[in-house]
Amino acid sequence: MKYLPVSFIVFFVLISSSLISITHCADRKRNISKEEADDIKIQRQLKILNKKPVKTIITEFGDAIDCIDIYKQPAFDNPLLKGHKLKMSPSSIPRERTNKYVSSSTIFRGLQKERCPSGTVPIRRTTKKELLNAKYFTKKSKSIYANNNPNIGYHFVSAEEVVQGKRYFGAAASMSVHNLAVDPDQFSTSQIWIMNTTDQENNSIGFGIMKYPGVFGDSRTRLFGSWSVNGPQVHGCYNILCQGFVQVSFVMYLGQTFSHSSIYGQVSYDVYLKVSRDQEGNWWLSAGPSAGATENIGYWPNEIFTLLRSSASAVRYGGYVGATAQEATPPMGNGHFPQFGDYKKTAFMRVMKYTDKAGNLVNLDPHSVITTAPPQCYDIMFAGLVGNWEITMAYGGPGGICN
Ligand SMILES: *[C@@H]1O[C@H](CO)[C@@H](O)[C@H](O)[C@H]1NC(C)=O
Ligand SMILES: *[C@@H]1O[C@H](CO)[C@@H](O)[C@H](O)[C@H]1NC(C)=O
Ligand SMILES: *[C@@H]1O[C@H](CO)[C@@H](O)[C@H](O)[C@H]1NC(C)=O
Repeated sequence: MKYLPVSFIVFFVLISSSLISITHCADRKRNISKEEADDIKIQRQLKILNKKPVKTIITEFGDAIDCIDIYKQPAFDNPLLKGHKLKMSPSSIPRERTNKYVSSSTIFRGLQKERCPSGTVPIRRTTKKELLNAKYFTKKSKSIYANNNPNIGYHFVSAEEVVQGKRYFGAAASMSVHNLAVDPDQFSTSQIWIMNTTDQENNSIGFGIMKYPGVFGDSRTRLFGSWSVNGPQVHGCYNILCQGFVQVSFVMYLGQTFSHSSIYGQVSYDVYLKVSRDQEGNWWLSAGPSAGATENIGYWPNEIFTLLRSSASAVRYGGYVGATAQEATPPMGNGHFPQFGDYKKTAFMRVMKYTDKAGNLVNLDPHSVITTAPPQCYDIMFAGLVGNWEITMAYGGPGGICN
């Protein structure tokens, strides 16, 4: 329970701060209604986020993917990135192998048949509905929080090394992908957090897989990344709901869907995800079918952070779920409690590693790992070394009415 605050903060920051930049344009000459004012804000924010595309690709699921001039992508509107020099690869991350064919040959459903023209990158277009929903979620979650019922609504399980004074430069794992039933009022994520926390301020990066119909308009399982800076200033958001993440891949992007999900008891699919800091302090997100075949999707630049400029004080692996109504919370993982008997029947993360100062991926030390879980509805089991799966854990749960 000791870790609860950070997760709450991360959530609120993520959803609310994408709207912060749009809250000062309402009062004009005319006395406009609240609805009109809100609409103007949303329209402005959309205009800022959705750049004029060179080309638009509609995916088979109906997502509009805009091909945006790589130098004109939304991130570069962030005042903190004035003068930032675009990097195309984290040249200083050792042993980085990128695989151009990752996205077309596997579980990742990036752009396949159609590609963006050269010099442009794919960016999933944000719809008005998504921004409105993000706003609605903020209001709803705030009111739940205000009702003195912080334990209703949001739950997480996590495993992390607890080593005083240790510094982390990244984190990675392969995580299983599942297709869960999630209501419009609920979200369910499997993720890795990279964070630095002081009494006055918190910074974090989160990445993993997410179902979030309320924000993304459907209940597909999607790749996500988030960042948050919470202290004197508050910034951050999921994916590209605000200006921060720099997209460099030509085929893979935040918000993209997966082509397979595990089937209970029959088959499990997992994806390898990693965030690692380069020597200039940018945090690179890469993904692929395995550790040996990854592609760089993009990075969160050093400049947008206050406490994650040099390193992180913790990396955490787990699941985070929530509901905006004071009702049932959604399933996590594959919707079943974790077990070690049959990994086809449990959600898991394996090859759990962190990046050390030299840029090498290192196994978590099983003896230093502690797990955290709420008393009901969800659980986490840390297995330690499991053959060539290396450091492994199982987690998840059915959700429901939890205390
Ligand atoms: C303008 O809005 C204010 C605050 O919402 C309200 O008190 C006032 O009556 C409105 N005036 C007109 C002319 O509608
Ligand atoms: C940062 O996290 C710590 C530890 O969870 C918490 O005590 C503190 O209130 C947070 N600070 C801010 C500014 O959110
Ligand atoms: C966390 O941030 C503080 C303040 O910037 C910094 O002094 C500290 O070194 C950071 N911790 C780590 C592990 O990087």
